[in-house]
Amino acid sequence: MKFNLNRYLLGLSMAIDCVESELLGVTSNHGGRVALISMRMARALGLSEAEVFDIAAFAVLHDNGLAEENLTRDDATRNRLSQVEDMPVHCEIGERNVSLFPFQSPARQVILYHHEHWDGSGFFGLQGESIPLMAQIVGLADYSDLKLRFGENRLGKREQTLDFLDARRGSHFSPELVEAFREISTPTAFWLDLRNAFLDNALRRTMPDLEMETDWQGILEISRVFSRIIDSKSRFTHSHSSGLEDKTARMAAFLGADPETILQLRIAAALHDVGKLAMPNAILDKPGPLDNTERAKMMEHTYYTRKCLELIPGLETITEWASNHHEKLNGEGYPLRLGAERLDTWSRLLTVLDIYQALTEERPYRASLPHARTLEILRELVKGNAVDADLVHAVDQAFQPIFR
Ligand SMILES: [Fe+2]
Ligand SMILES: [Fe+2]
Ligand SMILES: [Fe+2]
Ligand SMILES: [Fe+2]
Repeated sequence: MKFNLNRYLLGLSMAIDCVESELLGVTSNHGGRVALISMRMARALGLSEAEVFDIAAFAVLHDNGLAEENLTRDDATRNRLSQVEDMPVHCEIGERNVSLFPFQSPARQVILYHHEHWDGSGFFGLQGESIPLMAQIVGLADYSDLKLRFGENRLGKREQTLDFLDARRGSHFSPELVEAFREISTPTAFWLDLRNAFLDNALRRTMPDLEMETDWQGILEISRVFSRIIDSKSRFTHSHSSGLEDKTARMAAFLGADPETILQLRIAAALHDVGKLAMPNAILDKPGPLDNTERAKMMEHTYYTRKCLELIPGLETITEWASNHHEKLNGEGYPLRLGAERLDTWSRLLTVLDIYQALTEERPYRASLPHARTLEILRELVKGNAVDADLVHAVDQAFQPIFR
């Protein structure tokens, strides 16, 4: 089957973007702006189309390692930017997380080295040409957007930016890259393209169209890049998406699903909580039950999951299964309050298994629950007509011998 990797990347970039907005206080769409600038610079510097595609992927994913909860656990009153962006570990985690992404060129270590400086004063002390070119480009786009906020509509932005880059020519940035930026930023349209209202359109026009030949297994493997990023956001959910994927595959096989459906369900499970990337760690890691405001915020996450996945052609059915995991048969779930007649078997299964998975995981305010106690809770939910009785029974039959 043909699959459009660009749309997939742009869809999920929305979720990654939320992490940076939360932690760094940058205006939203930072990842998209870094991607747009990086692609234009890459073309000006004569890189191939495969490399232009890859640099967009690296740019969208450049700070995925910031989601790692270890970076944010202590003293929330300290400046969060210096706390997390100043730690080389976010480059190492970020590089590791994307190792399975199907890059089109041999370029690597772009995320690892996105904080290097031309004069060797960066995290890992690489100097000059020894810094991978794509890492230099992404680094320049990232740092200047962070400092100068290209999404904001202000007069004199071009002059201000060129002064900023000139002051760092030869120290922070290579002279050649500063010249490349000067060249691409001359047209008025460059600055308009970076505004929120036009960015998405500009990205679609600029990104090389990458339809790749793949199968559901291939899409699952790319999806695991994202489920890793999602799971690493909080210590308490470090194996939530991967655990749900495993249980979903087991139950689908138990219920007689064909191999293709099982793969699609795995993808839905891997991506079901992608919207959690938009939830603050202060809520995800709160050492106690959530208050009403926090719960309301938390309930937004499946809406975000739907908004991200809806942007990806070919994933329509998977989008339903993934985004419906908090809907209830009695119509009291969220975010759409769908009700029994709108929820198919696989949506219902994901709901049951998401609850099962969550209850058997440790939370800040309680220990993990054993199988028997988890089933008691699920049976209570059946009584309230929240979840599917037959599926809860099947889960008990299938899992009772395996999970205790
Ligand atoms: Fe960074
Ligand atoms: Fe960044
Ligand atoms: Fe969820
Ligand atoms: Fe979940």
